[in-house]
This record gives sequence, structure tokens and C-alpha cells, in this order.
Amino acid sequence: MRKRIIAGNWKMNTTLDEAKKLASEIVELVKNVDDVEIVICPPYTNLYVVYEIIKDSNVKLGAQDLHWEDKGAFTGKISADMLLSVGVKYVIIGHSEQRTYFCETDETVNKKVKQALKKGLKPIVCVGETLEQRENGETKEVVKKQVVGAFEGVSKEDILKSVIAYEPVWAIGTGKTATPEQAQEVHAFIRELLKELYDEEVAQSVRIQYGGSMKPNNAKALLEQPDIDGGLIGGASLKAKDFYGIIRPE
Ligand code: PGA
Repeated sequence: MRKRIIAGNWKMNTTLDEAKKLASEIVELVKNVDDVEIVICPPYTNLYVVYEIIKDSNVKLGAQDLHWEDKGAFTGKISADMLLSVGVKYVIIGHSEQRTYFCETDETVNKKVKQALKKGLKPIVCVGETLEQRENGETKEVVKKQVVGAFEGVSKEDILKSVIAYEPVWAIGTGKTATPEQAQEVHAFIRELLKELYDEEVAQSVRIQYGGSMKPNNAKALLEQPDIDGGLIGGASLKAKDFYGIIRPE
């Protein structure tokens, strides 16, 4: 019932030429895939050129962040309308790197989620605990606070358009993947939480991706878990073959 969604988060990688090459390779490799929703999230400078490459394909365009205001004196920031004007459909919000290095809080995540939804962009909302929090047994508490904070004041109709990405911070870019059981446990917890906050329909419909060192050789076991509906892929999304290997894991 939930369509699998695999998204590539290119982070601060790819020059114009690199982005064109990577996007073209991905479009070619995935052209026959229709049972998985595929999203790529290049840096802002490459959004439009990538849009031109993917616009007639089954690959959708995502951005890595947005600002919550409509427009104005916010040097360095990008608005929802700007993203929409270059073909963006999805936007990553609350990534742990944003939270760690750029002062992202549950409050700013919430403002961004509401702005994205108001404008018709689909948010991919990232949550996840640090190693210290996991070791202290705080994983569920932390994830709950982030999910509740992100969707505060968001209607049922709107959360149904959203995607949640569970990304344990200790697994991001470290090569240490959560085991399928560890990930499944948190995914099931998030789904239960959605039921408490909204209802059974929301819990069963919202897609929850796993992120954190997902690769072709560990994707299958993770994606087989009943509550894991896809992946948010960093490092492995920068090589078309690896990204495809997660879309069609062996
Ligand atoms: P990674 O990053 O796949 O390189 O661990 C995932 C992410 O940060 O979204």
C-alpha cells in the first residue's frame, strides 16, 4: 500500500558538469522502474540543470532545505517559490547536519515543514538520535520529540503528503549502518506515534525512510523490514550504479 521511496541526498557535492553526468546516468539506469518512487536532491546550484535532464523521466527533483519565509532580506536563503520555479517537488527538512552545524531546531523544522506544505512541496523530515543518546537509552524519547515538534499544527491532510526519514546520527556517513532490527524497532515506534498523534490511516500511509550508510549490500535486509518504506541515501547516491543498486537491491 505504501510505495517505496528512494531519495538521493547529494549534500554539498557535484559541480555543474558532475551533476549533469550523474543525473543522466541515473535517468538511464532507472528508466524501467515504476514500482519505486525515485527522488534526487542536488545542491541548489544544480537544481535547474538537473530538472532539464530528468523532467520527462520517472525521477523527481528534491532540494536539501528551504527558508520558511516567502521572500525578502534573508541573504543566502532559498524560498519555496524559488524551488517550485525550477521543478522541485520534495524538500529535505531537519537533516542532522543542519541540526548540528546550522542551528536547526524542532521549531525551525516545524516552520519549514508548514511553509513547504503550504506551497505544495512535499517535506522529507529527518529525525534521529546521536550515539550518546542511543547509549543512554534515549532514542525513542529523542525521536518522539523531533516528530512531535516537526508536525505540530500540521493537519492530517498535510501529513499524508509528508515523508519521514529516520536517520540515526551515528550511522550517517560513518559506514556503521543500523541493523535491520534496530531500524525496524524505531520505524515501528514512529508509526505507533503517528497513530497516537493522528490516526490509523496516517500511521499506515506515511512513508518512513531509513537513512545512514545505506548501500547496495545492506539495502535489501533493511528494505525488507515491514515498516521501512525506502531510503534517504547520502554517499551511495553519488554513484549512479550504487544508487541503482539500492533501488533494485540483490
Ligand atoms: P549517508 O548519508 O548515506 O552518507 O550515511 C545519509 C544522509 O545523511 O541522508
